[in-house]
Amino acid sequence: MMFTTELTGKLKRHETPFYYYDLDLLRETLAVASGEAAKRGFKVHYAVKANFNPVIMKIIAGYGFGADCVSGNEIDLAVNCGFPADETVFAGVGKSDREIETALKLGIKCFNAESAAELEVLNEIAGKAGRRAAVALRINPNVEAHTLKHITTGTDENKFGIRIAELEKVISLLSGLENIDFRGIHFHIGSQITDLHVYRNLCLRVNELWQWFTDRGMEPEDINLGGGLGISYEEPDRFPSFADYFDIFREHLDRKIRSTISFELGRSLTAGCGALISKVLYVKPGTSETFIILDAGMTDLLRPALYHAFHRIENLTSVLPPGKYTVAGPICESTDIFGKFISLPETGRGDLIAIRSAGAYGEVMAMRYNMRSLPPAVFSDDI
Ligand SMILES: Cc1ncc(COP(=O)(O)O)c(C=O)c1O
Repeated sequence: MMFTTELTGKLKRHETPFYYYDLDLLRETLAVASGEAAKRGFKVHYAVKANFNPVIMKIIAGYGFGADCVSGNEIDLAVNCGFPADETVFAGVGKSDREIETALKLGIKCFNAESAAELEVLNEIAGKAGRRAAVALRINPNVEAHTLKHITTGTDENKFGIRIAELEKVISLLSGLENIDFRGIHFHIGSQITDLHVYRNLCLRVNELWQWFTDRGMEPEDINLGGGLGISYEEPDRFPSFADYFDIFREHLDRKIRSTISFELGRSLTAGCGALISKVLYVKPGTSETFIILDAGMTDLLRPALYHAFHRIENLTSVLPPGKYTVAGPICESTDIFGKFISLPETGRGDLIAIRSAGAYGEVMAMRYNMRSLPPAVFSDDI
């Protein structure tokens, strides 16, 4: 994303804070990701939770992605934005009865079931609706993801997924559930994974589990390997390495596996195309640091306050020599800080600030705490 003088001039005309999306960059990312997946015979479902802005969703649907949803509302929106229902999967550790009914009615491809109790509920609701529920078991592979502690999901002690030790019990339960069709197996070990070797460990576990199911006469039709491909928050213009990522799986998944292989990518598809644009309200000296107080806060972009996530911060309007600043929002919480001791050109009231890589888990997590207005979205196609 290039903040040329022309673009900055156009952005200055909008009331801050807002999300700016470079839709050409989004299209380029989608073309590369879908092309690299197709070359290796893989399918990708877009993880809607990363960004459910309908403009973004419609563009993604246009590139032939399926949808990975975690609520009934996400499923409804995905179908309305053009994702085919039969290419939509429904994950989540706590699906409500109403959400299950919605998904069955729309005819989604598959439920990623996370517990024995959920399988029984799915069976009962499908029976009452006179339908069948296709199910993939979300298995907790106990593979360490080496990412932020709060976004690791594939280790044994975790609210997500079914533990390997429970599998024998779960498949014996499955054999008695008359309204469920076993479709495959599903994994997701965490998000923002930059050490791609982690996926080799996942492949080795998947190979063992594929054999385990096949030996029991339950060869999985689908293997869904989840999402998690990380991006460089330090270098926001670096493109995600889709080819390297898919190659790891091509290389380490057992050749004899005949299942459809799919992924659920979110962050790597949308993060780079979005930036939170904000204005400097005040520059405030402290005792050992100088604070920049922005008009955007944790209510607009929660990740830094929620899990100490780093986002690169740029001053779009100053060309003065650099200083060190702590960049904070206006919210009445001391965790409302976007970055400490950040090097920026000398900054003053009214300067325009871009917080980069905010196209995933940004706008969708915005909230109204302090009765703030939700940040609007501005698209490159419209300005
Ligand atoms: C089950 C599941 N699939 C896919 C994703 C998308 O992950 P990412 O945005 O890291 O690609 C997540 C994110 O947390 C998830 O929980």
